[in-house]
Amino acid sequence: MRQWKKILITYEQAVEELKVKFKAIRSELRLMNEYSPIEFITGRVKRVSSIIEKAKKYEIADHEIEEKIEDIAGIRIMCQFVDDIYKVLELIRERDGKDLKIQYEKDYIKNQKESGYRSYHVIIKYPIQTAFGQKEIFAEIQIRTLAMNFWATIEHSINYKYKKNIPKKIKERLKKSAEAAHQLDEEMWQIRDEVINAQKLFEVKSDTVSSVVNNIQMLRVIGKDVEADQFQKEFDDTWDIGNFMELKKLGDRIKYIVDKYQAFE
Ligand code: GTP
Ligand code: MG
Repeated sequence: MRQWKKILITYEQAVEELKVKFKAIRSELRLMNEYSPIEFITGRVKRVSSIIEKAKKYEIADHEIEEKIEDIAGIRIMCQFVDDIYKVLELIRERDGKDLKIQYEKDYIKNQKESGYRSYHVIIKYPIQTAFGQKEIFAEIQIRTLAMNFWATIEHSINYKYKKNIPKKIKERLKKSAEAAHQLDEEMWQIRDEVINAQKLFEVKSDTVSSVVNNIQMLRVIGKDVEADQFQKEFDDTWDIGNFMELKKLGDRIKYIVDKYQAFE
């Protein structure tokens, strides 16, 4: 037991680090109001029971487990659209030889599995600084759309329930739903630009609103209550009309006033 803990702590570290790194990409892009190909990220360390099960299945000896089981550390990157998957892939490839080493890739999107499973897998080697020096471990990165993830999650739980002996009828349904998930990705891809623009507009709009509210607050803090009241009224009126360009103009005006006052404080 202690031995497992000692081994797995390195893998936990790898999962945490990789999650942080990919989340940072998303945060940076969002901060700049740029579209992020990454929607969200999850990660896990394989459970001891699953590691043992896999070792038995592939006749892997105890001392070979770390060099032969490549998915003890795993992270999943979820994307909105299929082409985002290939953008994320580019981001990973750019890092090859820097903070990670790509071992090989499996494209289950172009080559959908018999089950209906679709995702892009990248197996990497990743260095970890441990208390006893650097250690290089394997990690599996799965990149998929939200629809692919939905399907895989459901299919996985059904597989788990039936221990791989899924009744024929359910298997057929799963294949059909895999096709439906595929269709959903195709449809969404068609209106991709529309969706991205709408999301961008939403981001910009909420940024503008919070800037207006913060700046009105700032006017109060520096004792300009008359101006604050007036802008508050204008903000309420503009809000009611719901015209974004007007809101933007108001935002710029308030900002100008706040900057001016602050320059003199
Ligand atoms: P294992 O690692 O033993 O699973 O087989 P493999 O080395 O051939 O790997 P493969 O690339 O096929 O699968 C690796 C991982 O992808 C699995 O652990 C799952 O997380 C996922 N996966 C692969 N096939 C399926 C599938 O049919 N359904 C679901 N839900 N997930 C799958
Ligand atoms: Mg595998």
